Amino acid sequence: MVTELEANRLISALILAGGFGTRLRPLTCTRPKPLFPLGNKPLSEIIIERLANSGVERVIFAINYQAELIMQYFGTGDKWGIDIKYAKEKRPLGTGGPIKNAQHLLNDSPFFVLNGDVISSIDFKDMLNFHIQRKDALGTIALHPVEDPSRYGAVELDHAHRILRFVEKPAPGEEPSNLINAGAYVLDPEVFEHIPENTPFSIEREVFPIFADQMKLYGYKFDDIWLDMGKPADYLQANKYVLDHFLKKTHSSSNKKVFISHSSEIEEPVHINSSIAIGDNVKIARDTHIGPYVCIGDDVTIGQGCRIENSIIFPDVQIDSFSSINECIVGEAATLGRWVKIEGLTIIGDYCTIKDNVTLTSGVTICPWKTVSESIITPTTIM
Ligand code: GTP
Repeated sequence: MVTELEANRLISALILAGGFGTRLRPLTCTRPKPLFPLGNKPLSEIIIERLANSGVERVIFAINYQAELIMQYFGTGDKWGIDIKYAKEKRPLGTGGPIKNAQHLLNDSPFFVLNGDVISSIDFKDMLNFHIQRKDALGTIALHPVEDPSRYGAVELDHAHRILRFVEKPAPGEEPSNLINAGAYVLDPEVFEHIPENTPFSIEREVFPIFADQMKLYGYKFDDIWLDMGKPADYLQANKYVLDHFLKKTHSSSNKKVFISHSSEIEEPVHINSSIAIGDNVKIARDTHIGPYVCIGDDVTIGQGCRIENSIIFPDVQIDSFSSINECIVGEAATLGRWVKIEGLTIIGDYCTIKDNVTLTSGVTICPWKTVSESIITPTTIM
C-alpha cells in the first residue's frame, strides 16, 4: 500500500544556515555555525542524517555568511545519499526571504523549512504526515513545551490543532500555552505568493499570522529534545544531547556513549567517563581524566595528568600537562600551557596561546590569535 507520504513527490527540506551567529563569536569569526562540531560532527550533518533517515531526498542550504565553507563540506550530498543544493543570498534575507530565494529548487509539494541551529528529536516523517492529513493546511509549525514561555512566543491552539494566535514574550500568568515555535515547519508551496523577491522578510511575523487568520496554520506538538543553539551555554548543552542521543548508529564505539577513533593513542591509565567523542589521531597521555560530556576534535594532543569535563575541544589543539578544562570551548589549534585552568564558560578563540599557570574563569572570551600570560577571573573579552 502506498502511504500518503510515499505518494508525494520528492521530499525536500530547506535549512536556514545563513546567519552570522553573533552570539557565538569569536568562534563564528572563522567558521559558520552549521559547521560547529557536536560529538565531532558538524551540527548540519547531524540534521542531514536525521532528515535522510526520515525519507527526505533533497536538502537545500539557504546560505550567506561563509557560504563557501558549507558548500565545500557538504558538496552534492553523495556521502549521505541525499541530493544537496544551495541557495545563496547576496545579502541576509532573514527567515522568509531565503524561502523565496530557493523557490526554483523546490517542487509543488509541501516541504520542510528548518532553522539550521536547532537540535531536536522531531519525528520528521510523522510531522509531514500530520501536515498532509490536514487537507487545508498551508503550514504546520513544530511546537515544543517549555517551562517558561515568557522568554519566547507562545501559541494558542484549538482542539483541532489549529494555531489561533501567537503571543510574543507573554507576561507570566498570561501565556495561552507553554508551547513555543520550535523553528521547524512544513509549508505548502502557496507560501511563495506571500514572500517578496530578494527582500529581508520574517516568516514568523509576516506570513504565519496571515495563515493563522485563515485558520490554515497547524501546530505539531513534540516532546523530548529541543535546543536552539544560540549562546555558548546552549552549544555545550547541544553537545551533551548529541553525545547522548544522536551518535549511536554512526560512530565506531567501544561502548554505548564513548566514541573513540581507532587512530587515537591513549596512554594507560586514563580515566574515561561517558559521554565522550575523541577524533582521529588524538594523543592523550597517562593519568588524564576525560568526561563527562567532552568532544575532542582530530589531531589534538593532551599531556599527562589533565582533566577535561563538559567541554568542546576543536581540532589541532595542544594542551600541556596538568591543565584542567571545565565548561569551556577551546578553538582550533589553540595552545594551552602546563597547569592552565579554564572554567565557567570561557571561550578560547582559534590559534590562541594560553601560557603556563594561567587561570581563566567566569565567561572570559579570548579572540583568535591572542596570547594570554596572566590570569583573568572576571567576565572579560580580550580582543
Ligand atoms: P545570532 O546572530 O547569534 O542571533 O545567530 P543566528 O545568525 O543563528 O541568528 P538566529 O538564531 O536568529 O537564526 C536562526 C536560524 O536562521 C539560524 O539557523 C540562522 O543560520 C538562520 N538565519 C538567520 N538569518 C538568516 C539569513 O539572513 N539568511 C539565511 N539563509 N539564514 C538565516
